[in-house]
Amino acid sequence: MTSYNLLLLPGDGIGPEVMGGVRKVIGWINARGPDTFEVEEDLVGGAAYDDHGASISDATMDKATAADAVIFGAVGGPKWDAVPYDVRPEAGLLRLRKDLELFANLRPAIVYPALADASSLKKELVEGLDILILRELTGGVYFGEPKEITDIGNGQKRAVDTQVYDTYEIERIARAAFELARTRQGRVCSMEKRNVMKSGVLWNEVVTATHADGYEDVELTHMLADAGGMQLVRAPKQFDVILTDNLFGDMLSDVAAMLTGSLGMLPSASLGAPDAVTGKRKALYEPVHGSAPDIAGRDIANPIAMIASFAMALRYSFAMTDLADRVEAAIAAVLAAGKRTADIAAAGDEAIGTEAMGDAIVAALEEAS
Ligand code: IPM
Ligand code: MG
Repeated sequence: MTSYNLLLLPGDGIGPEVMGGVRKVIGWINARGPDTFEVEEDLVGGAAYDDHGASISDATMDKATAADAVIFGAVGGPKWDAVPYDVRPEAGLLRLRKDLELFANLRPAIVYPALADASSLKKELVEGLDILILRELTGGVYFGEPKEITDIGNGQKRAVDTQVYDTYEIERIARAAFELARTRQGRVCSMEKRNVMKSGVLWNEVVTATHADGYEDVELTHMLADAGGMQLVRAPKQFDVILTDNLFGDMLSDVAAMLTGSLGMLPSASLGAPDAVTGKRKALYEPVHGSAPDIAGRDIANPIAMIASFAMALRYSFAMTDLADRVEAAIAAVLAAGKRTADIAAAGDEAIGTEAMGDAIVAALEEAS
């Protein structure tokens, strides 16, 4: 009987509403035992800025560092459009990723059988889809310096972002990709833009060399990221694991999300390296979707990506494989029973709200046990 410590950071917009679904699932787990979760909550993003003028406080960072896992909702919204760049809501999330060294971002895109019709692509293209986008999360253009806008005279300004990758950063994410592929269909497709970017040349080289260093059992292919985006909407089932950098991963995972029917369906896990002594990884779990301020506070957001992110926490942070499988099965069962939030409901179908979807998933969990 173990008690684990979770830090919940609901954030802004629909974040607090979809986090409600996670609270329900945690409540169900805690009532059953034997292992339980102790939950702490704190502010992040615009909510933190409104409270104390920073998008995440040092005290919250300390809690995140100490927690067994961080469960994150969403940040941002038009309310904070004018706040200084360094304290904008997104900066809180980026600091968590960077300071906790969460370099490996797993974004699985799975099409639930009941939802094949909800995709923007033809049913036969997405039916049975099960791909994993592995996005590098602590490097590249998100964090490269210089990152600035300078005045260069004559009424002109110059904006610079820096795309930068060191060998070790590419190597560790490549290893993670090959190891994940071994637990799946054994195929990795690496995507970069080596035809125009030096960082793409090095990315390609290091991924190839890492593959040759003990991962020959995994099939490795390379694609230019633009062609990869095209293939993702042309024939997505050709992929198993897509390995890519921070920026391309951001874009390609939004595309992958829509293949599954809705942005509201895609979970993610952001993992650090295993600790040399304890073997434990720092980890943060968040839905791929954003704060969706336009639908916030109306009980219509889809909590499935958030709840599925928590299932990933059960799997990757707590080795509770059976429980993770059960949460995912409960989501599938609820969808199979025809329950839909507005984003995945077919035209004319009745939709249920955020709360009701969370309750339905917990009821399905209960029913299956
Ligand atoms: C994501 C989001 C974030 C990103 C934003 C909110 C900073 O789009 O997790 O995909 O760009 O990484
Ligand atoms: Mg994104």
